[in-house]
Amino acid sequence: MQVMPIHEADRAWTLETRDTAYAVAVNAQGILTHTYWGPRLAGPSDSPAAETSSGWASFNNPQQIIREEYPGFEGAKYTDPCLKLTYPDGVRDVAPRFAGADVKGSRLVVTLRDPVYPLNIELHYMAHEALNLIERWATLRHTLEEPVEVERAFSAQWHLPRGADYRLSHLTGRWLDEFHLRRDPLPHGITSLESRRLTTSHHHNPWFALDDGTATEDTGRVYFGLLAWSGNWRLAAEVTDFESTRVNIGLNDFDFNWRLRPGETFETPHAFAGFTTGGFGEASRALHRLVRSRLPHGKATHPVLYNSWEATFFDVTEPRQKALADTAASIGVELFVVDDGWFVGRQDDTAGLGDWVPDPDKFPNGLGPLIEHVKARGMRFGLWVEPEMVNPRSRLYDAHPDWVLHFPTREREEARNQLILNLGRPDVQEHLITVLDDLLGRHDISFIKWDMNRNASQPGWPDAPGDPREVWMRYVQGLYHVLGTLRERHPKVTFQSCSGGGGRVDAEILRYADQAWTSDNTLADARLDIQHGFSQAYPAAVMEAWVTDAGAARLPLEFRFHVAMSGVLGVGANLDAWTLKDREQARTLIGEYKTWRDIVQHGEQYRLTSGDGLYAVQYVNDDKTESALIVARTHRPEPAQLPPVYLRGLKPECVYALRAAGSHAERQALPAHASGAALMNVGLNVNLSDFESFTLHLTPKGQG
Ligand code: DGJ
Repeated sequence: MQVMPIHEADRAWTLETRDTAYAVAVNAQGILTHTYWGPRLAGPSDSPAAETSSGWASFNNPQQIIREEYPGFEGAKYTDPCLKLTYPDGVRDVAPRFAGADVKGSRLVVTLRDPVYPLNIELHYMAHEALNLIERWATLRHTLEEPVEVERAFSAQWHLPRGADYRLSHLTGRWLDEFHLRRDPLPHGITSLESRRLTTSHHHNPWFALDDGTATEDTGRVYFGLLAWSGNWRLAAEVTDFESTRVNIGLNDFDFNWRLRPGETFETPHAFAGFTTGGFGEASRALHRLVRSRLPHGKATHPVLYNSWEATFFDVTEPRQKALADTAASIGVELFVVDDGWFVGRQDDTAGLGDWVPDPDKFPNGLGPLIEHVKARGMRFGLWVEPEMVNPRSRLYDAHPDWVLHFPTREREEARNQLILNLGRPDVQEHLITVLDDLLGRHDISFIKWDMNRNASQPGWPDAPGDPREVWMRYVQGLYHVLGTLRERHPKVTFQSCSGGGGRVDAEILRYADQAWTSDNTLADARLDIQHGFSQAYPAAVMEAWVTDAGAARLPLEFRFHVAMSGVLGVGANLDAWTLKDREQARTLIGEYKTWRDIVQHGEQYRLTSGDGLYAVQYVNDDKTESALIVARTHRPEPAQLPPVYLRGLKPECVYALRAAGSHAERQALPAHASGAALMNVGLNVNLSDFESFTLHLTPKGQG
């Protein structure tokens, strides 16, 4: 049967994905209205007709009541608009009215035009059939003689079925404590989540899920989505007094203005959203599939890495790194990454950023001998950089003090002794491309950890070619340009997005970086909750997790490993201080991870339990023949009765062989074989004390 993702009839369009439908239609006033979003219907004729309203009172005109797909700041309408601008004549009223539509395959473009001004607003829709997602963005273009000042241009307004009793799930946190999942009733009015920091931010992440308060991990109707953008963003969830709930999402309009010149096109970031009846778990898996489908290296298996940061901090020297590399190789590490401290002038965090050449005192013959040493031990080599930053104590700053974000009359505000290069500037972009291209060209580097250790303040751009407030967007576009060019020139290099941990994790940076550094907090028990939040939107394939010495006095090495094995495993400990027994145990655990890491990195993720001191997370491969399970108990007061762990996503009729691993595996007394139906319905009994854990690998009976 031919797939028809978009049905068009009488100025109405229904976008269909495998399980869902999303419909819009033009009403009698020429306004594009939202008509339906939910389970797929029998056919497009099931979609309701376009809404019209004659208004309700002089205080509430028609447009306030109908559900407009892309409302402008216009007329007597007080709901939150997507678009706000000022025309050259000073008029600040924009009227997006239907002017045409174009359907090509799974893409719909609806053109709206202001009846008085030659401004085209194109709304772009993509139906991602297999992913069960709708993608939206908008472009603006005009042919007036003078620029239009765009003060707000969101990517999408998502309308939910009428009702005012939704619950908002979102992620909050701070540095060292990111990605905490919260579920709050959505009040009347506007609930605003945002970043004003120049990056995606540790504090909120541009992800949401909405349900009626009854959805669970496995059941219930959930609307969810994210914004693919790595800079300032805003999510405004509004419950109107007409019992209508909608989510506006896009570029943050705080301190924003874009001078749109005649003939130029302004394009918003892209927003994605979906609907499921399968609860929060299925919502997450849909986004995981999306993010995985856009990763630069697709289904590449990520190696077990070692990172030197927590072992040596800034005290990076060739002999010490070589010694660490020897031990790392002996426990099964495949990628050795030298963190901060390798470049000229970098004894601590007060100097050096900007000068990306090896420190001759630390590396008298450059990085070459260390790289050869690492490669000779069968590992690849990786390096830390923080290209967007400069220390005032650096050669780069001496040469280009004007390259940083600043206001001329203000003393420049440092954080961690550093200032931010203005990546909105083409000369800064070109400089970074030249320097990093040279670094990658001269050395055999497989992995770059791209860090960013402060947020923006004093966002000035004294000689900006347009409105200086464009910096918020131009900076991020500049970053994508630099990363994109480096990726083109060095396609084999894997990039990791780090911003003091998880400060820049979003679906757009993950088109340039295959990995994200989840958090600077490497305490395994704290990490469980952080990882749980991270997994709401982002897959295990991008979640880098290290075993370190944090909490070693109370958290067994095995527990620390098992927690980190729920993502892309790394080791960040001071290996010199590890006993032979530690190393031997690490070698066994890394070997175990390698046997099923492909399921973790490329499979479907099921969060079986989380909280109450018991975490169980399961991964299932594409054809459901193999699965990996990690179970870890944190603190739970005794006597503790642990609930059974019910597996998910298996084939009920398939009989699986169970292989538990870890020092507490035997105590679990698991059967050697069990059917998918039994594993999912009878479940597994868990027998663990505080900070004990085990892993389980399921293979089809007769194999494995
Ligand atoms: C912050 C990162 O998150 C750490 O892993 C480390 O790379 C430091 N920066 C180095 O300055």
